[in-house]
Amino acid sequence: MALNALGRHLALSGFMGAGKTTIAPEIASRLGRKVTDIDAGLPVSTLFNTLGEKAFRVEEAKRIKDVLDRRHPAVVDLGGCAIKSPSVRSALSASAFTVLLDVDARTAWERCADTGRPLARNEDQFRALHAERQPLYREVADAVVPSGDADGVVLAAAGVHHELGALARLGELVPGDGPVALVGDATVMGIHGADAQTALGDRLVSVHELPAGEEAKQASVLERLWRELRLDRSGTIVGLGGGAATDVAGFAAATYLRGVAWVAVPTTLVGQVDAGIGGKTAIDIPQGKNLVGAFHWPARVVIDEALLGTLPERERRQGEAERLKTELLAGRHLDVRGAASYKAALCLRDPHDVGPRRWLNLGHTFAHALEAAAGFELAHGEAVALGLLAALRLSGRDTRIVVQALDPHPVSVDRDRAWEALLRDKKRSDGEINLVLLGDDGPFVEPRPEADVRAALDDLIV
Ligand SMILES: NC(=O)c1ccc[n+]([C@@H]2O[C@H](COP(=O)([O-])OP(=O)(O)OC[C@H]3O[C@@H](n4cnc5c(N)ncnc54)[C@H](O)[C@@H]3O)[C@@H](O)[C@H]2O)c1
Ligand SMILES: [Zn+2]
Repeated sequence: MALNALGRHLALSGFMGAGKTTIAPEIASRLGRKVTDIDAGLPVSTLFNTLGEKAFRVEEAKRIKDVLDRRHPAVVDLGGCAIKSPSVRSALSASAFTVLLDVDARTAWERCADTGRPLARNEDQFRALHAERQPLYREVADAVVPSGDADGVVLAAAGVHHELGALARLGELVPGDGPVALVGDATVMGIHGADAQTALGDRLVSVHELPAGEEAKQASVLERLWRELRLDRSGTIVGLGGGAATDVAGFAAATYLRGVAWVAVPTTLVGQVDAGIGGKTAIDIPQGKNLVGAFHWPARVVIDEALLGTLPERERRQGEAERLKTELLAGRHLDVRGAASYKAALCLRDPHDVGPRRWLNLGHTFAHALEAAAGFELAHGEAVALGLLAALRLSGRDTRIVVQALDPHPVSVDRDRAWEALLRDKKRSDGEINLVLLGDDGPFVEPRPEADVRAALDDLIV
């Protein structure tokens, strides 16, 4: 079974009326991929009528296999019957992540009756065919998502599982059947550790507590972990906690035995909408935060919003700033699941952070400068809230949404120190600085004159 669509085709399967053709372009645009059109311009009914069913199926299977054999990952609309062909099924398992768009027989019939589709002319036959196909659809699927749920398809494609109460099912959600080491933030382990251990059951072979919060992100903590871990290469590290704990657990997984699988279970809002997703892992060194790390995509991310029930308000505010940032980028309201899906799509699109994933830095150039000038006494979320104000102002956009949601207040730091930190963070060329900005069609990166950037930074400081 494929774990995600990273570097693989994203194949959409499902019965007639599951909405594959409607959702495919939306998914493709979110992932920056092309939709591969199997019908090549000819409507199914025409092909079906000219070729007859049997010859049509052979032709369809051949076309799909050709598409799946192409290297460049695409979004592939599999049609309703292609999975009946064994050669399509083996091509899928070799090179695709297959999502079943689940639709019940009644809804499917309502959508397909009177559309002239050859197999949707008689309701009883239609329902019988629906029932007959279900086992095969499920056998071939790497994930099952309700029809029409674009966020769900993207989350599944990134290996993200969002479910209230998912912690209790952690044992089943950790892929494979090898041994598991639980690596958790000490505070979080005190609250949710027992539930996590129970859920992991017999697979759990060791438990490792990390210092709470940012203290965990040190080489000495990692080194202790390396010495304590007893996994073989079939093992999985489960990281439980906020972004700090999942960053360390993920980096340990990237390095231990030259890389073992890991699962992130983020317990903060920052973790659930941001840090747990996308495979960036890191620790801090005295020279700066996140300077040593690796890209190591988690085998699964388990988002259980029930875990946020014990999160202190101050920590929740940190996450609100990142959620609002994501909402601004997406241009629409996003709950935790929607924000996670938006980030997941950008990371799948650009796993190594050399293109559109950088949009996630909206407001962060300013935030990092203020944090550095405040000697890291300023919380990241407060700094991001201010940074978003500056980014919106430089984009010529209304800042009301940030003011209403986050109520940021200018901070008292040294202006020159903040400016120097910003210049250290950002390369300038010809008196201009590249920034993530927002336009009517979404985010873009563009240079702005230094004087304007400095003025925007000054506005955030009292
Ligand atoms: N890898 C990435 O892509 C990425 C993205 C963003 C941030 N980060 C990193 O994430 C870190 C910040 O993460 P964070 O904001 O989640 O903070 P955190 O991990 O430092 O946790 C904050 C505090 O909340 C406590 N806590 C966590 N979950 C709790 C719960 N459910 N109930 C009660 N207390 C709980 C922790 O013990 C800690 O004291 C930074 O180190 C940052 O560099 C990484
Ligand atoms: Zn941030």
